[in-house]
Amino acid sequence: MADRVLVFYGSYRADRMGIRLANYIVAGLKARGKDAELIDAKAIGLPMLDRMYKEYAPGSAPQALEELALKIRAADAFVFVAGEYNWGVQPGLKNLTDHFLEEWFWRPAAIASYSAGRIAGARSALAWHGTLSEMGMIVVSSTLAVGPIAQALTADSAPLGEAGRFLDRSFIRFVDDLAWWTEAAKVQRARKPPPY
Ligand SMILES: Cc1cc2nc3c(=O)[nH]c(=O)nc-3n(C[C@H](O)[C@H](O)[C@H](O)COP(=O)(O)O)c2cc1C
Repeated sequence: MADRVLVFYGSYRADRMGIRLANYIVAGLKARGKDAELIDAKAIGLPMLDRMYKEYAPGSAPQALEELALKIRAADAFVFVAGEYNWGVQPGLKNLTDHFLEEWFWRPAAIASYSAGRIAGARSALAWHGTLSEMGMIVVSSTLAVGPIAQALTADSAPLGEAGRFLDRSFIRFVDDLAWWTEAAKVQRARKPPPY
């Protein structure tokens, strides 16, 4: 069965640019045989964290949380599209991820950062690395770093110029690395079901 990969993106801005990278990644994963889906935090629209999903009595969580929890639990791997606000993470995506904990466990995650400048969101990638590890994911070492994003991808997520060609080349290793760990985690989960 194709690997089920969820691609998370969390900018709420009207003129958001990172959606270009998120759509590029979803399309690229699908082209390489993965069952990929974009999880757009803005479209889901969770309120600021009050109760985590697990703090609701079974069956009483808001519908959006129930649906997302099922998707996260059923996924084989995750990609986090990480924009950078003031050297940190985007609050919309952080808010979404903080609603869950055990639901993330035992799967690999890869980080694709971007920004308007040449730093390409590297500082937010660094912050996400620790956060995703804390949430029980295996963070793979291959990353994507796209910046300036406007010079790498068109509004339709087509690669642009030299930056786009570099992204295309980097993407191959990014997907291969994630797929290796996805398979390893799948085998281990089948061999030894996670304790929780
Ligand atoms: C509040 C805010 C803070 C920002 N801080 C940074 C930053 O620290 N480093 C950086 O490279 N770009 C920064 N930028 C520029 C963003 O990289 C750029 O706006 C990018 O497109 C944001 O992602 P989004 O369009 O998907 O929301 C910031 C933008 C905003 C709106």
